[in-house]
Amino acid sequence: MQIRIIKNETELACAAADIFEETITNKPNAILGLATGASPVLTYKELIRRYEAGLISFKDVITFNLDEYCDLPRDDKNSYFTFMQENLFKKININPENVHIEDGNAENFDAEAKAYDDKIAAAGYVDLQLLGIGTNGHIGFNEPADTFTEGTFRIRLSESTIRANSRYFTDSKMPEYALTMGVGSIMKAKKILLIATGEAKAEAIYNTVKGPVTPHCPASILQTHPDAVLLLDEAAAERL
Ligand code: GLP
Repeated sequence: MQIRIIKNETELACAAADIFEETITNKPNAILGLATGASPVLTYKELIRRYEAGLISFKDVITFNLDEYCDLPRDDKNSYFTFMQENLFKKININPENVHIEDGNAENFDAEAKAYDDKIAAAGYVDLQLLGIGTNGHIGFNEPADTFTEGTFRIRLSESTIRANSRYFTDSKMPEYALTMGVGSIMKAKKILLIATGEAKAEAIYNTVKGPVTPHCPASILQTHPDAVLLLDEAAAERL
């Protein structure tokens, strides 16, 4: 695991965007695994800036998002579909046919999960997977558990995640379930880039880096990945 501690969020976003730019430059039809939440917002802004400056093109890029809430209309302001449109896809030259996000309103969640994994496999697996981290060490929506999860599946969100993410649901009830890539799917990515900022993430980062590899801190599995990079600000890194 490579750990880089970066002074401020702007520089951190630039460092993350550099890794994206390198991936897309080397492989214009790269498969990107994308994340939502506050952590990647500045990185997406920097990618948009580089696209507008003519430095990168997303014309042939293919994306798979980590997760999506269940039973939330796709056009709800809090769906991850909407998040991705607003924070990235609307502002770059990506082909909408190359964008994949789980359907949280599928009639059959198991079939949707299997189809999603099949699409990732058929595309040749993710080249660069971006991750945030939950305060309990979750990645995607893989909550602490007794075993590591494998492929995409439907999960009941933990109380701590519901508490942490409820801040976004100001006028509707936060969903209790989500579809998420499993830890096994995430680990198949050739390169993984985790971004964490702020002291609320310090304990999760400590457990990820210094703790045992355990499904009770799902992000700790990154210790076993051959090419995982953690970009941290000083507050998130304060316990290392
Ligand atoms: C959600 C997402 C995760 C994200 C986490 C942290 O639970 N499913 O992918 O990493 O929130 O979000 P934030 O970056 O807003 O702290």
